[in-house]
Amino acid sequence: MIEAIIFILAYLLGSIPSGLIVGKVGYGIDIREHGSGNLGGTNTFRTLGVKAGLIVTISDILKGTLAASLPFLFNIQDLHPLLVGIFAIIGHTYPIFAKFKGGKAVATSGGILLCYTPVMFLTILVFFFIVLYISKYVSLSSMLAGVYGIIYSLFTKDIPLIIIITLITIFIVYRHRANIKRILNKTEPKVKWL
Ligand code: G3P
Repeated sequence: MIEAIIFILAYLLGSIPSGLIVGKVGYGIDIREHGSGNLGGTNTFRTLGVKAGLIVTISDILKGTLAASLPFLFNIQDLHPLLVGIFAIIGHTYPIFAKFKGGKAVATSGGILLCYTPVMFLTILVFFFIVLYISKYVSLSSMLAGVYGIIYSLFTKDIPLIIIITLITIFIVYRHRANIKRILNKTEPKVKWL
């Protein structure tokens, strides 16, 4: 019973649409009607600038971190934090508070990793920025960071981590279908600040 409550709480946490809240409250717009149409940090940076983008990205990361912390907070030892985190990722991607039209799972996935293995999170973050510096594509950097995460996880021999990060990366690539088409068409926007 308590497990079900934790899963629901994680989903609801993930469902908090930070991009929508910041866009509507701070700027009077729905960011899903601008830029890539994605309810995420990248599209907030693109549409509303650095301050709003940082707030949304950090909030989306923290949703995942908090969700993955729920087993510790409720003292339920046998519930895997990454499994709970998956419910936050589902919430972030299909948010009940935003008509199920959410983000692409990247920041919230990072957040659950930050809770479970901060060193791996930081290593992936460095890799992400290296790819971003070279390619200028946030979407490509996000997908390749997931692939790098799978390779990294293989060395940990942590089976739940390997399985869950592989599933998350497949899901992240699936959520970036439109970006992949745009990269191939050469119409994907590049970041200008790096
Ligand atoms: O985190 C999402 C990012 O990888 C791509 O976002 O807005 O360029 O589709 P966007």
